[in-house]
Amino acid sequence: MIELSVIVPTYKERGNVAELVRRLDAALVGLAWEAIYVDDNSPDGTAEAVKEIAARDPRVRCLKRVGRRGLAGACIEGIMSSAAPYVAVIDADLQHDEKVLPAMLAKLRDGGADLVAGTRYVEGGSAASFSQRRSALSCFATQLTRGLTGTALTDPMSGFFMMRRDRFDQIAPRLSPQGFKILLDIAGSEKLRIAEQPYVFGERFSGESKLNIQIGFEFLGLLAAKATGDMLDPRVVYFALVGSLGVVVHLIVLWTALTAGLSFFTAQIIATLVAMTGNFLLNNEITYRDHRLKGAAAVKGLILFGLFASAGAIANVDIAEWLYGSPTTGTFWWAAGAAGAIMSAFWNYAMSTLFVWRAR
Ligand code: GDD
Ligand code: MN
Repeated sequence: MIELSVIVPTYKERGNVAELVRRLDAALVGLAWEAIYVDDNSPDGTAEAVKEIAARDPRVRCLKRVGRRGLAGACIEGIMSSAAPYVAVIDADLQHDEKVLPAMLAKLRDGGADLVAGTRYVEGGSAASFSQRRSALSCFATQLTRGLTGTALTDPMSGFFMMRRDRFDQIAPRLSPQGFKILLDIAGSEKLRIAEQPYVFGERFSGESKLNIQIGFEFLGLLAAKATGDMLDPRVVYFALVGSLGVVVHLIVLWTALTAGLSFFTAQIIATLVAMTGNFLLNNEITYRDHRLKGAAAVKGLILFGLFASAGAIANVDIAEWLYGSPTTGTFWWAAGAAGAIMSAFWNYAMSTLFVWRAR
């Protein structure tokens, strides 16, 4: 019977597959383990590299996902596919130290913990292989996360952990498949008994990091959701962030067009179209990434998004004017204006979720 499933999320990690199996084999000697690679259809043939090994070694298998991307979602599906009592998640690039896996398992086996999180930030752990810039970024994000979520984890940004499979089933329905921070999501979702395991974060063996701006954006959404006790859906946060960015874009374009000598009317139309298209594209990439529209569906979506936004804008002006004209609120021009804007933001969000991306 298999006791430990090691889940390895991969995107373009072909050069690391064989080396990680070799190292797991050495680190987990005497244990009944398996490795489940979850690959998001990497163009570099990662899944093929895993299958080549899996054909000879029954402890190794590959779950290949198509039409989807995302580290957290890959981890969730990998864990779900396991029948072992304990599951671990480890990066494919050998930056996480597989040699501490037996120590993590020991902490779960003795029944004192439900989750053991790898940490670089206590005695015995380190992240010395980080570049100075990345190190500063990681420290900042760690402090921000700890402050906002009040998590007990000393290294909430780590993607290296092991937990009891039965506990995961209870938490799974509340986890977000978006983003990078699955551990933070798990630890914040439930009163788990958490232990930590120091380890030394190593150098990437082959290939390159997948961390980017968009993932940073998603992370902010997850933080806001956690900070408000899951009252705010991350999607609402992304939508609000994208919308705020849209206002800035609108003003920049408007200013540029006016400076170029266009009439206010023309400039305002251009600025509206640019901001609206920008918002649509960003929402398509980030807010509704899991329902992303492509090709003709994207064009149709853009038009629908524009129509709903225009209706929202008309309602916005109507509501604001009505409030402004009423005797009680009439003196507070800003309250009337803000109420109109907030109403139309809610309208846009609801219509986008229900009809443009059908994300329900
Ligand atoms: N299936 C799948 N789908 N796997 C993915 C995806 C995806 O969309 N994106 C990334 N991965 C896999 C990578 O292939 C790798 O095995 C692992 O997730 C981590 O990705 P890296 O690209 O190596 O991340 P990193 O090294 O920059 O970030 C590390 O440090 C962070 C803390 O600063 C990771 O350990 C993070 O988990 C950690 O939060
Ligand atoms: Mn890495």
